Amino acid sequence: MAKILELSHISAGYDKKRAIEDISLTISQNDFIGFIGPNGGGKTTLVKVIVGLLQPERGTMQAYRNNKVSDRLRVGYLAQKNQIDHQFPIRVREVVSSGIIKKWNMRYRREELRKTDELLERLHLSHLKSASISEISGGEMQRALLGRAIISDPDLLILDEPNTYLDQHSEDMLYSILNELNRRMAIVLVSHDLGIISSYVKTIACINYTMHYHPNNEITEEMLESYQCPVELITHGKVPHRVLKDHIHE
Ligand SMILES: Nc1ncnc2c1ncn2[C@@H]1O[C@H](COP(=O)(O)OP(=O)(O)O)[C@@H](O)[C@H]1O
Ligand SMILES: [Mg+2]
Repeated sequence: MAKILELSHISAGYDKKRAIEDISLTISQNDFIGFIGPNGGGKTTLVKVIVGLLQPERGTMQAYRNNKVSDRLRVGYLAQKNQIDHQFPIRVREVVSSGIIKKWNMRYRREELRKTDELLERLHLSHLKSASISEISGGEMQRALLGRAIISDPDLLILDEPNTYLDQHSEDMLYSILNELNRRMAIVLVSHDLGIISSYVKTIACINYTMHYHPNNEITEEMLESYQCPVELITHGKVPHRVLKDHIHE
């Protein structure tokens, strides 16, 4: 599978406090990676680095297209606990269309507006398209923000705990959409819901200052107990056996 982004030895943090250390990760087309780890472990920090909102203190990131070094990677991002002011005077349809990347003119083309409306339909938001965001529920807002993140067909979609505000209906919808999107884009999903992690993601990255990558989606006892690394027990075929030793946190 062709890689689209390579992180090498990334360290990042805030002021003098380092939040993540020496993280290397390769993301390929059609990857569906679950980021798990304890609160404050650095998941959002790593996401911010990938999205370009936080400059790493050390390390490099390189995008690839068709296996060649590239300077462009389109990233769709749904931030943790949206920072949007719900009183901001913007309508649901504008939230979704604001994700359209404009290169030169400010007007939306007819085709883009059609795409916006299709997406609204798909996210079951058509009836709310003219509603102001102050009038909608948290779940509806998350769906609108998901629409915003995917409308420009990103190469990589990153969702930071998207299920925080979701009712069951919105959650089911979200995951069926993600499954379908994953056929044409890589997805990183930060989640506390291990059921979701094990049923949807293909691989798991455990982030707790440093990162440990597990090239499968088995949830182990240790993960269930504390969400902490290390991970020891991984089922392989029908025979559970130990594959990975304790991770050593430097
Ligand atoms: N804006 C910030 N300023 C200072 N410290 C921060 C900021 N955001 C996060 N941190 C700290 O960085 C560490 C990692 O946080 P974060 O990446 O949000 O973890 P997670 O998403 O896994 O809960 C924590 O110790 C947190 O307190
Ligand atoms: Mg976070």
